Amino acid sequence: MFGKYAKLFLTVSLGFLVVAIIMVAWGFEKIVDKQIQKNVQLENNSMMFDKWLKLPMPLDFKVYIFNVTNVDEVNRGQKPMLQEIGPYVYKEYRERTILGYGENDTIKYMLRKRFEFDPEASGGLTEDDEVTVIHFSYLAALLTVHDMMPSLVGVINKALEQFFPSLEDAFLRVKVRDLFFDGIYLSCDGDNAALGLVCGKIKGEMPPTMRAAEGANGFYFSMFSHMNRSESGPYEMIRGRDNVYELGNIVTYKGQQVMSMWGDKYCGQINGSDSSIFPPIKESNVPKKLYTFEPDICRSLYIDLVGKTEMFNISSYYYEISESALAAKSANHDNKCFCKKNWSANHDGCLLMGLLNLMPCQGAPAIASLPHFYLASEELLDFFQSGIMPDKEKHKSYVYIDPTTGVVLSGYKRLQFNIELRKIDNVPQLSTVPTGLFPMLWLEEGATIPPSIQQELLDSHKLLGYVEVARWFLLTVAIIAVIVSAVAVARANALLSWPRNSNSVSFISGPGVTMVNKGN
Ligand SMILES: *[C@@H]1O[C@H](CO)[C@@H](O)[C@H](O)[C@H]1NC(C)=O
Ligand SMILES: *[C@@H]1O[C@H](CO)[C@@H](O)[C@H](O)[C@H]1NC(C)=O
Ligand SMILES: *[C@@H]1O[C@H](CO)[C@@H](O)[C@H](O)[C@H]1NC(C)=O
Ligand SMILES: *[C@@H]1O[C@H](CO)[C@@H](O)[C@H](O)[C@H]1NC(C)=O
Ligand SMILES: *[C@@H]1O[C@H](CO)[C@@H](O)[C@H](O)[C@H]1NC(C)=O
Ligand SMILES: *[C@@H]1O[C@H](CO)[C@@H](O)[C@H](O)[C@H]1NC(C)=O
Ligand SMILES: *[C@@H]1O[C@H](CO)[C@@H](O)[C@H](O)[C@H]1NC(C)=O
Repeated sequence: MFGKYAKLFLTVSLGFLVVAIIMVAWGFEKIVDKQIQKNVQLENNSMMFDKWLKLPMPLDFKVYIFNVTNVDEVNRGQKPMLQEIGPYVYKEYRERTILGYGENDTIKYMLRKRFEFDPEASGGLTEDDEVTVIHFSYLAALLTVHDMMPSLVGVINKALEQFFPSLEDAFLRVKVRDLFFDGIYLSCDGDNAALGLVCGKIKGEMPPTMRAAEGANGFYFSMFSHMNRSESGPYEMIRGRDNVYELGNIVTYKGQQVMSMWGDKYCGQINGSDSSIFPPIKESNVPKKLYTFEPDICRSLYIDLVGKTEMFNISSYYYEISESALAAKSANHDNKCFCKKNWSANHDGCLLMGLLNLMPCQGAPAIASLPHFYLASEELLDFFQSGIMPDKEKHKSYVYIDPTTGVVLSGYKRLQFNIELRKIDNVPQLSTVPTGLFPMLWLEEGATIPPSIQQELLDSHKLLGYVEVARWFLLTVAIIAVIVSAVAVARANALLSWPRNSNSVSFISGPGVTMVNKGN
């Protein structure tokens, strides 16, 4: 009887071992992956979904201004001296409105941002600070005319003198509040014949930095108020239900699959996420580049894998912007389709290293770079007497990602906006200035997850750690059970075989005996 149980026990524990091996090798991972996917995918009941719909905490939106401290000298042709002022810190709240679901596992949404000044984080800086910056909208208008119809530039400048208040030179003296959000009033009430032309053109194109003044014949110019006033999108994003490693990828923006303004399939590609959400990272297949799509500059950018590192005691992958993202054509031939500047017939239209022409994107001759021309051509620095000092730690863009969930532990995107200061002889305001690329301000947008979410992540990792322990525990138990039952079976066999063997001897002789007996 005991032997039968031992055999049963052995069979069961062998089965258990097989299950344990399958679980260790494959099953646990599948179950865990499934659980993670359930939590991160963009689905009604997932952990991530609500956080994605409405960011649980505001992002930091920081602005640094380049205050020009030697305007009179620059107006006489000397090199500018700049003073960086900032950060002016705003809290950026983000909310998404779902428009619908697409057929290929996508979700369609509008993104709404709202900004609030944070005086505490801004230190002593206030929105009432007066600064002197390059006159972005004046130069944008004038450069556009100068590039397209140089003979008209004098006439148009006369109209711009009425349009912009107190236009003595190429610099704007302004309150930070007005420059960023409230707006500078530009009047279309003037007797200059060309003023109607200027206002008509603005009304027709309505660049994002302009908004029509209510109840007055004019506009307000500000750098960021359009971001606070209107939603952007629609975006169409992959939900990660079919393939979690595609989670967050944007497939269309404003209904388009490519950004057509670059006139090229490669440069127009919409790659990657909106930098708020990334897919989990498989340890066996760590992507070398992470892509993000930046609607403000109409293109995708990428950051390169640097390595694995600890952040808040969570092991994470670290990615950083590299030179090749904004490289000139000579250094990264792929970037040639971003060359769109019409300088002259024989110029290839490319800018220097580290610069991106935003004309095709924003319809204004603005030029983007990394802050302080970090990773850009050193030639650009020669234009300044002081105030421009690229510094990797302050000016890089980067992200730390938790590979298990794809959550960004800490990530910051930094971008600078510049415009050319150009000597133009028949424009009195510009007839004696030096020609060069002039920075106006730079932005930093990003976040570091607060301790509460750090703890949440640490806890879920701990849970995964337990699961990991559990699967080896299970295997160990299975092996022990098999050994124990094997021994039991062997012992049971030994116990049974003793008497059986002695019996069989008697049995072998038995028949003969019985036969003899029978014969008897
Ligand atoms: C998600 O939930 C809302 C209601 O809460 C429902 O209208 C919608 O259809 C659900 N979406 C999916 C994909 O299940
Ligand atoms: C900016 O520079 C001007 C000099 O051009 C100076 O008067 C002004 O105080 C500076 N602004 C700030 C906020 O430091
Ligand atoms: C969905 O995917 C299929 C196959 O890749 C493609 O042909 C189809 O156009 C896609 N549908 C949408 C709405 O993008
Ligand atoms: C953004 O808009 C809201 C109203 O929608 C307003 O209360 C807030 O002050 C604006 N933010 C800034 C920085 O102007
Ligand atoms: C978009 O992504 C693909 C593959 O992921 C890559 O080969 C291509 O270079 C990317 N395009 C841009 C413009 O970065
Ligand atoms: C990391 O863990 C160590 C030991 O558990 C702890 O002393 C330290 O404070 C932790 N650091 C952070 C940033 O949580
Ligand atoms: C550049 O010039 C060409 C022809 O001269 C013109 O077709 C093109 O639209 C111009 N591009 C821009 C961005 O002005």
